[in-house]
Amino acid sequence: MILVTGGAGFIGSNFVLDWLAASDEPVLNLDKLTYAGNPDNLSSLAGDARHVFVRGDICDRALLNQLLAQYQPRAMVHFAAESHVDRSIHGPGDFIRTNVDGTFSLLEATRAYLAGLSDAQKNNFRFLHVSTDEVFGSLGANDAAFSETTAYAPNSPYSASKAASDHLVRAWHHTYGLPVVTGNCSNNYGPLQFPEKLIPLIIANALAGKPLPVYGDGQQVRDWLYVGDHCSALRRVLEAGRLGETYNIGGWNEKANLDVVHTLCDLLNELAPERAPAQGAYRELITFVTDRPGHDRRYAIDARKIERELGWKPAETFETGMRKTVQWFLDHQDWVQKIQSGDYLTWIDRNYAQRSESHPSGSAA
Ligand code: NAD
Ligand code: DAU
Repeated sequence: MILVTGGAGFIGSNFVLDWLAASDEPVLNLDKLTYAGNPDNLSSLAGDARHVFVRGDICDRALLNQLLAQYQPRAMVHFAAESHVDRSIHGPGDFIRTNVDGTFSLLEATRAYLAGLSDAQKNNFRFLHVSTDEVFGSLGANDAAFSETTAYAPNSPYSASKAASDHLVRAWHHTYGLPVVTGNCSNNYGPLQFPEKLIPLIIANALAGKPLPVYGDGQQVRDWLYVGDHCSALRRVLEAGRLGETYNIGGWNEKANLDVVHTLCDLLNELAPERAPAQGAYRELITFVTDRPGHDRRYAIDARKIERELGWKPAETFETGMRKTVQWFLDHQDWVQKIQSGDYLTWIDRNYAQRSESHPSGSAA
């Protein structure tokens, strides 16, 4: 079997569902179920013996030792993390704990586990670390996209904690020979994404007739990848990635935030016209608000290495992926509504109440 950490979160649950749709190899899913972990994401696996769920913390070495000894996985796919940049600005402590200490704890538990395996089992083992393009910092408008050799320059507490975890993974390979491989991926979107991130937040707010908050001038650029494509890339890296290597994973879809929000509004006008605001189209809800401190201006991934070495390319275009995503959220309003209570409302208040409305020049919605 494989051990997946963070498999109740957005990408992790998509990965587990895709994995078990494509293979009968069981998954041991270790997740702490923070605010971002949602057992409902995995409800279609209820009663499926191929999925073993354990609620637990990746910082808990005793638990890790016990799970590794009991289940003897042949690979670990490490998603578990605190993942939201805005939350890292409000409270960086959890990010250091889970992303840095937690990864350290997994590496050490894996090292101890491998010491007890035969050479053949050791050679077959893989530690697949799921990381982000944010570790490379921010690009200027005319800079070349991030490659695997771009120097690390993380700017937020989140990206600094992910960069630290990447360095630990690299060092455990170099020093102890741990069989690691890392994926640095761009912005994901798709089904099951927690509605704190831009795309699901805009869809949820639009359907509720609430303002659509665009930070600063809305001209920050992200390189969007449909989550199913990220999962297929990770499966390929697990299968054939070279040990100790890193692979940049991206969708070749650079878009300014305001254009993403416009696309969502236009899709909603088409797919849910009956819920558009009384005065007209969804675009009228767009509201420019105070920018994120330290906001990175542009990310872009050069994904030629994974294509050249592993033959992976995204299957979805931005247009097909966004249409599927909007339709999924329209079809799963109960999933969204269940999340939008308690802790979620506290977070929304904390992140948005202090932001004043702003009117950047040339930013007509
Ligand atoms: P998410 O926040 O949706 O899910 C994180 C999951 O990890 C949750 O289920 C949570 O309960 C679990 N978790 C958190 N702390 C834990 C701990 N201490 N022990 C065990 N479980 C814990 O995150 P996501 O968007 O699915 O991202 C998954 C991974 O992919 C992260 O490592 C993130 O850095 C990386 N990544 C995300 C994106 C993106 O666009 N979302 C892009 C590139 C890379
Ligand atoms: O690049 C990969 C990263 O993408 C991942 O490592 C992170 O885990 C993931 O959260 C994501 O980080 P971003 O900060 O880019 O994603 P987010 O959805 O929070 O924001 C996307 C862009 O939209 C960013 O420029 C900030 C902006 N934004 C976001 C929110 C939540 C807004 O303008 N308004 C908002 O309300």
